[in-house]
Amino acid sequence: MIKGLNIFFAIFILIARAQAQNYDEAKVPAYTLPDVLKTSDGQLVKNKPDWEKKRRPEVLTLFENNIYGQMPKTFDNLTYKVTNEVKDAMNGKAHLKEVTITVTKGNKSADIHLVLFTPNHVKKPVPAFLLINNRGKENTDPTRATKSEFWPAETVIESGYAVAAFHVSDGAPDNKNTYQDGILRLYPEQLETDNGMKAIGAWAWTASRVLDYFQKDKNIDAKKVFVVGHSRGGKAALWAGVQDQRFAMVFSNCSGNTGAALARRRFGETITRINTSFPHWFTNNYKKYNDNEAALPVDQHMLIALIAPRPVYATNATKDLWADPKGTYLSLINAQPVYALYKKPSGLSPEPPAINTAIINSILGYHNREGIHNLTTFDWQNFIRFANYHYPKKG
Ligand code: GCU
Repeated sequence: MIKGLNIFFAIFILIARAQAQNYDEAKVPAYTLPDVLKTSDGQLVKNKPDWEKKRRPEVLTLFENNIYGQMPKTFDNLTYKVTNEVKDAMNGKAHLKEVTITVTKGNKSADIHLVLFTPNHVKKPVPAFLLINNRGKENTDPTRATKSEFWPAETVIESGYAVAAFHVSDGAPDNKNTYQDGILRLYPEQLETDNGMKAIGAWAWTASRVLDYFQKDKNIDAKKVFVVGHSRGGKAALWAGVQDQRFAMVFSNCSGNTGAALARRRFGETITRINTSFPHWFTNNYKKYNDNEAALPVDQHMLIALIAPRPVYATNATKDLWADPKGTYLSLINAQPVYALYKKPSGLSPEPPAINTAIINSILGYHNREGIHNLTTFDWQNFIRFANYHYPKKG
């Protein structure tokens, strides 16, 4: 009887919590964002050197310690092996390589499986879009028997870019009981500290190892690698771009809470909710901010600011209020002061653009697509436009 009652109350609490998510703009609480340019000792940063030497490292450490965790910097060896190669894939339009990247540390190693197409019509090293794939592996089918909007490889190839992907499970299985079974096997000490990285950190780390490989692939212009992610993959893409300044650009699609959307708005998904549903994504320390956003020394606009002066493109979808479209746009707006230090004004207007209107000619790009939480052809077409704007093709 008592047990039955407990279950009843547990279900009741879960339902009450689910209903507690706010989707009403009028109920967004009053909040003050931390000033991205104000150092911990109260100085206002006014120039690039002070940002780069003082405030940027400070903000980066705050994100590491409180949210995404430390990023291990060392390993012993990185080797790679092409396991499948088709020089005339996609009816002769692309060169396919499937590559196993093996990272070794001590007596342990982890394999990353990369799918990579490069366009045959471009005769020099090409820029590349790298997707952190958080959905089924069929979305990045190397045989192209299955084609998915999630990774429209043909479209990217025709636009003259390489297109690549790895699956998140190589970095960390997306499961609260088994996330340790990826690259965290190489860094078990991370599991013992409250600021140790978990799955999202591991996915970002894995993206960087792919970039290590790209630096060795003569078909890739490794100075122009763009990291792309959808939703939880979009959170990881942002963190990858922050941590690894070799990424030239970041595309964050519907990344929402603890991605591109401001936490303090408490609109849609909240910190409590994300930490409860996905305890294996962020540090133990992050749990301290459940129902306590105001205590966070950062907010997500500062994550975008850490990518400056490199371009960032963020998206939302109209039926995906869970990921807070307005809060995402406001992150971009509030990251602008750091871009301004680099004399890279975005020219964003205070209000978000109309539905399906993409902001392309800007260092900070954005669109809010009509439709549901997904990564679609519309999104990719605008990613390509944004890349074309920032890296115009010569001749
Ligand atoms: C859940 C989660 C989001 C996440 C999304 C996804 O909805 O709450 O934070 O972005 O899954 O990855 O699709």
